[in-house]
Amino acid sequence: MRYYYAEHQAAYQRLAQQGLTQWSDLFGETDEYDVFPNRAFLVQALTRLELPHEPDVLEYGCGTGPAACFLAARGFRVDAIDLIPEAIALARRFARERGVNVSFSVQDVCAMVADGKQYDVVLDSYCLQSIVTDTDRAKVLAAVRDRLKSTGYYVLSTAIHDPDRVYEGDFRYDATTGICYQAAEPGDDAIQLDGNWYLPHRRHLRPAALRAELEAAGLQVHSQEGGDLICVRHR
Ligand SMILES: C[S@@+](CC[C@H](N)C(=O)[O-])C[C@H]1O[C@@H](n2cnc3c(N)ncnc32)[C@H](O)[C@@H]1O
Repeated sequence: MRYYYAEHQAAYQRLAQQGLTQWSDLFGETDEYDVFPNRAFLVQALTRLELPHEPDVLEYGCGTGPAACFLAARGFRVDAIDLIPEAIALARRFARERGVNVSFSVQDVCAMVADGKQYDVVLDSYCLQSIVTDTDRAKVLAAVRDRLKSTGYYVLSTAIHDPDRVYEGDFRYDATTGICYQAAEPGDDAIQLDGNWYLPHRRHLRPAALRAELEAAGLQVHSQEGGDLICVRHR
């Protein structure tokens, strides 16, 4: 099982049991489905994009779908994927309750093929920090680039390095790579550091390193405010 699966599945099982509606509710950051963490950035970003009528959007790592439903309610044609079936089941329910049409499916973004439907917008609402290894991130960013129309935009909100964030207990942070590891049993994807086993957990890059990674993947950074970015394909 890949390093990003078990943690996310457990989170959505907890979320469903507690009757919560989105990932950030688990951390007390939100309590209303329609008020999701990157909503303000998305609203502001949309005013800056040149988009056709009824733009095609792909959101990966959509969770229970708050951003996907928000866009669908505003006339976007939305495909939205997430790794975890429990998240997609809730997303479908919330979309139905709101009367909006989103094509949700269970898919691993690391396995997303490059040659498929192309989009006016590819949206990431805090998924990329969970894609940790260089190999997986390169696959995701290559697919994002290829799935963007030549006039399309990659709208990304991701956690980044925060000098005040504390890594303790099971967690350790490698400042050179920006990788946060979590203690784990030996197994697929686990690595040994100083004699202990860890799984990759998050990638918290400094803003300049994130920008360099995107540029190297053929995505030109149009604007960046910390972990909120708008990118276009390198022409
Ligand atoms: C921090 S949560 C954010 C969820 C949602 N975008 C929101 O704002 O509520 C990150 C999401 O990425 C999903 N995810 C992590 N790895 C993934 C992968 N490889 N493929 C697809 N989704 C993934 C998780 O299941 C989770 O729903």
